[in-house]
Amino acid sequence: MCGIVGGVTERNIVPILIEGLHRLEYRGYDSAGIAYRTEENVSLVKSLGRVHDLEKKLDKKATSNIGIAHTRWATHGIPSEKNAHPHASNKNIYVAHNGIIENHEDLKSELKSEGFKLYSQTDSEVIGHLIEFYKQRGMDFDSSVMKAISRLKGAFALAVMDKNDPETLIGVRQSSPLVVGEGFDESFLASDIMALSPVTNKFKFLEDGQVVFLSKDKVSICSKDGRAAKVPTKEVDSTAYTNDLSGYNHFMEKEIFEQPESVQSALEGRITNKGTREGIFGAGFEKKLKNIENIQIVACGTSYHAGRIFEYWSHKFLGINCRVDYGSEYQYQEPVKTKKTLLMTISQSGETADTLASLKFAKKTDDPLTLTICNVANSSLCRESEYTLLTNAGPEIGVASTKAFVTQLACLNLLLLTLMQVKGAKPGTIKNIASSLIELPDQLAKTLKMTDTYKAAAKLLFKRHSTLFLGRGLYFPIAREGALKLKEISYIHAEAYPGGELKHGPLAMIDKNMPVIALVPDNEHLDKITSNIEEVAARKGKVITIGPLKKTTLNKDGGHIKIPKTLDLLNPIICVVPLQLISYYTALLKGTDVDKPRNLAKSVTVE
Ligand code: M6R
Repeated sequence: MCGIVGGVTERNIVPILIEGLHRLEYRGYDSAGIAYRTEENVSLVKSLGRVHDLEKKLDKKATSNIGIAHTRWATHGIPSEKNAHPHASNKNIYVAHNGIIENHEDLKSELKSEGFKLYSQTDSEVIGHLIEFYKQRGMDFDSSVMKAISRLKGAFALAVMDKNDPETLIGVRQSSPLVVGEGFDESFLASDIMALSPVTNKFKFLEDGQVVFLSKDKVSICSKDGRAAKVPTKEVDSTAYTNDLSGYNHFMEKEIFEQPESVQSALEGRITNKGTREGIFGAGFEKKLKNIENIQIVACGTSYHAGRIFEYWSHKFLGINCRVDYGSEYQYQEPVKTKKTLLMTISQSGETADTLASLKFAKKTDDPLTLTICNVANSSLCRESEYTLLTNAGPEIGVASTKAFVTQLACLNLLLLTLMQVKGAKPGTIKNIASSLIELPDQLAKTLKMTDTYKAAAKLLFKRHSTLFLGRGLYFPIAREGALKLKEISYIHAEAYPGGELKHGPLAMIDKNMPVIALVPDNEHLDKITSNIEEVAARKGKVITIGPLKKTTLNKDGGHIKIPKTLDLLNPIICVVPLQLISYYTALLKGTDVDKPRNLAKSVTVE
């Protein structure tokens, strides 16, 4: 979603802001803008489309020591230059905003009656006018911002600049992420570390409700009510935050091929072939797990699918009731209060607003033990949760989640093993699962080699309007993930069904034009999914089968893709690779923008 970058520097800030915007591109956006101070004034340049479109409009000789910039992902008002940020008020106040101002209509009416003219269709424009309004009433820049934010309802991360105060930038964080970067004689603001990693490795992670005042050599932070706040500076390994494709054509491709290494990092130091090591979730976690009788998982999108896999594992190997809800639904389905509950959130970014809101809701209404499985250290979910297990996948830039999913599954398997250990499962069973999990990176690497097979499958799909994915048991959430990947990057309509549901509706869709991808396990579901495939084939549907079986009598003209065989509970993870690459090659054949699919954002920071 939207991205903010800003800074006050001794050197020229303009190229730093532009590089920052490029590094925020992965979040998803439709327009971009920059405001930087010139000798006497502020230059404001905006553009619809990509950051390089904005660059073309910039004065090549532009230099400045203070500025803010923004990538916009439209919520209120169409993608357009007028709606792009920064928004200006009276050519004095400039604001870049992430989030949603819920009371913007009321504020608009009030500001209009005070004589302010609104130029855009956005909810954000009111912020600058409100600050300007208080300045016109005699308040200084700092107090005007403090007063204005006390009037705002909703979620907002802000970067604010005042033409008449050329040495200060103000940042605000309220339910939308904002980090402060500290350099030598320079200070920065950004939505995430990625934007600033070329200029600093020292960061302050603001808490909700904090306001930061930046000058070249000073960073001071206070709460919304003006009380001074101390936020520690953390050093981050910024070499990990590279936006280099390393010879791949897309980040999605790179991230798919990084999966063996990413899973290796997720397991590193956390597991031996006897089971998981103590303390990997944080001190005292195992002791608290002893009492757990219920598990509630909350997540969105791909991360939700990871949760659904854990649900099956929990029932089968732990006998613990596990429920999985979408972040956007959890609090509204009026969850029944349970005792002795582990509330687990799963998220790549750690900033997904719906998941975060669910966690906050659960903490307010109940007293669960909270754990997050997350890829981004210091993210909001990590900070709101009592315990964290980082997936260690490394930054994921492609909007379509790939290595984050596979490492989530590896980490969830670590949790399963830890729970089994705590609940007294047989050491032999634990050993069996642990040693197979350790072999997973090698099996993923083998699966990644069969690119020609996946390219051939893509040729069957790319001219179709729809594709059906079938799976049973553990393979059903994987089928859903396969459908999500295909639809988000190739724009082909895709749906996933449990094989048994076929005759309850979707069979009506099957004809010779409908490709079906069926995930075929080597377990008790084999006979039943075989019948489902026969039902499709009898209606001339083209079936591609994927699974660990060597030979299959099932392959109907779509062909069979054999993946390496491992334990039944881990085999679905290997199955993810063919699904990711089939989607990727289909998108290439269709010529879509793989890393930045239309209408989507990497990190969904509004509810
Ligand atoms: O950062 P999160 O894992 O919380 O994000 C959740 C979803 O927005 C995300 O998985 C989304 O569905 C991806 N684009 C899927 O590829």
